[in-house]
Amino acid sequence: MHNSGLNETVERPAPETPVPGLRQLTYADLPVVISIERRSFTTPWSPGMFVLEMSKSSTISLAAVEDDRLIGYAVFSRYDAAWHMMNVAVAPEHRRRGVASALINGALERIEPGDAPVTLEVRPSNKSAISLYGTFGFRSFGYRKGYYANGEDAMIMWRGDPALAGVPAEAAAGS
Ligand SMILES: CC(C)(COP(=O)(O)OP(=O)(O)OC[C@H]1O[C@@H](n2cnc3c(N)ncnc32)[C@H](O)[C@@H]1OP(=O)(O)O)[C@@H](O)C(=O)NCCC(=O)NCCS
Repeated sequence: MHNSGLNETVERPAPETPVPGLRQLTYADLPVVISIERRSFTTPWSPGMFVLEMSKSSTISLAAVEDDRLIGYAVFSRYDAAWHMMNVAVAPEHRRRGVASALINGALERIEPGDAPVTLEVRPSNKSAISLYGTFGFRSFGYRKGYYANGEDAMIMWRGDPALAGVPAEAAAGS
């Protein structure tokens, strides 16, 4: 994925807190998306990067909405036979309520075929994101050297078998 996440310590809310609704992300959402993005990442995506990904027919972009307000988003794109989780973020005040889980679940439900391999990159220090991805069956395959702007490596995670997407084991592991 594109960069590190700014994770804040968030108290878990009452378990009866309802999970938000999902809908497709639109260009009109971008001002709110950018505001959440800037509060979530040290090197946030620009509006143009969202527009580029959202304009592709092979992209699934979802908004999590509560009371007509966008509180999180996820962007998945397909390159060749593999899906890539490009971006996921939740407004800090709405974290630990299952919002990211709902977004990832919604995207995985929309991915065809349903067992298509999905990959992502994550900063090894982003323990909350790694824990989140683990709940969806993502496993570490290796590291992409110097992936981030500060030269930090990225952990490569896959859900499913990268060989099914025609990705050789060495490439799936970042070597
Ligand atoms: C990572 C992020 C998207 C998680 O969003 P969220 O809506 O809070 O996640 P969920 O509530 O769906 O969490 C599901 C599970 O993930 C794990 N998890 C999520 N946040 C966690 C945290 N801060 N610490 C530990 N585990 C965490 C837990 O297993 C959690 O289940 P639980 O609450 O029942 O224990 C959110 O913290 C965020 O926007 N961070 C900044 C952006 C970022 O890092 N994006 C990922 C880039 S690779």
